[in-house]
Amino acid sequence: KKVGLVCVPFGLGGAREGAELGPRSVMNAGILKQLESLGIEEITVRDVLCPQRPTGLPSGGRMRYEIEVRRMSDLMCEQVADLTANGYMPIVLGGDHSVAIGSLSGITERDGSPGVIWIDAHSDLNTEATSPSGNAHGMPLAVALGKAQFKLSGASGKSIRKEKLVLIAARDLDPGEKELIRADGIACFTMHDIDRLGMKTVMDRALEIAGEGTASLHVSLDMDSLDPSEAPGVGTPVPGGLSYREAHLAMELLAESGKVTSLDIVEVNPTLDSGGRTARLAVELCASLLGKTIL
Ligand code: ARG
Ligand code: MN
Ligand code: MN
Ligand code: MN
Repeated sequence: KKVGLVCVPFGLGGAREGAELGPRSVMNAGILKQLESLGIEEITVRDVLCPQRPTGLPSGGRMRYEIEVRRMSDLMCEQVADLTANGYMPIVLGGDHSVAIGSLSGITERDGSPGVIWIDAHSDLNTEATSPSGNAHGMPLAVALGKAQFKLSGASGKSIRKEKLVLIAARDLDPGEKELIRADGIACFTMHDIDRLGMKTVMDRALEIAGEGTASLHVSLDMDSLDPSEAPGVGTPVPGGLSYREAHLAMELLAESGKVTSLDIVEVNPTLDSGGRTARLAVELCASLLGKTIL
């Protein structure tokens, strides 16, 4: 197995500064050593040269920093498409969740309809019209589904299929997002569903939906899916999240499926973290997804 680590130090998609320091903190937490000890034969690291925070008012209309988000997404799309073409599994280190616009467009460039498992307290399905904040990190799935105004510069306009998208760990949804989930019948396993069914059943069903009849499977792990007691270093913490073991079990089951072809780990914000534990947990969860087992 070959892995391409894509570092995306971008934080303009969220309201709070610091997510742009996420890739560095996850690297410092030892992700490279972890990958090596898992026997990954080849690891390449790509740094995406993200636009800096402009002085003055944010660009864009209803999406804040739209110009910067587009620049970052265009660069990422290229990197992810190139890695995939060369047989590398892309692992994207964010950055706020707007970096997933680039991951998903890079993947859909090559493979029209990936399955997508989105593990997040939020559904990130806001369009420019429904977003209460204007923050791009609340919009990547709306963009990937072709529901938003926002477009990449060079993209062919392919979108992911709503039938192959699964949300897991949701517990803070905006009105427009709820409406869209219901109207489009998007599979959504909320924290309530996880409480009732357990993570094993939820993941079995998620893999049935997103992992069958698809040539590739993308997992997007927003660290705010975890309970803030486990992962305090995130910009938009929401109580009542995944436990440490639920999150690991999810990763272990994904590893067992053998189907995951790309991964994002996003929203690590070291300035809000406590002693680097969120970054360390991100590394651990990545290891579990790549096949690390207890015994
Ligand atoms: N739903 C809220 C918004 O659209 C919060 C989104 C948080 N997204 C995230 N990736 N942390 O502004
Ligand atoms: Mn998110
Ligand atoms: Mn989130
Ligand atoms: Mn909210």
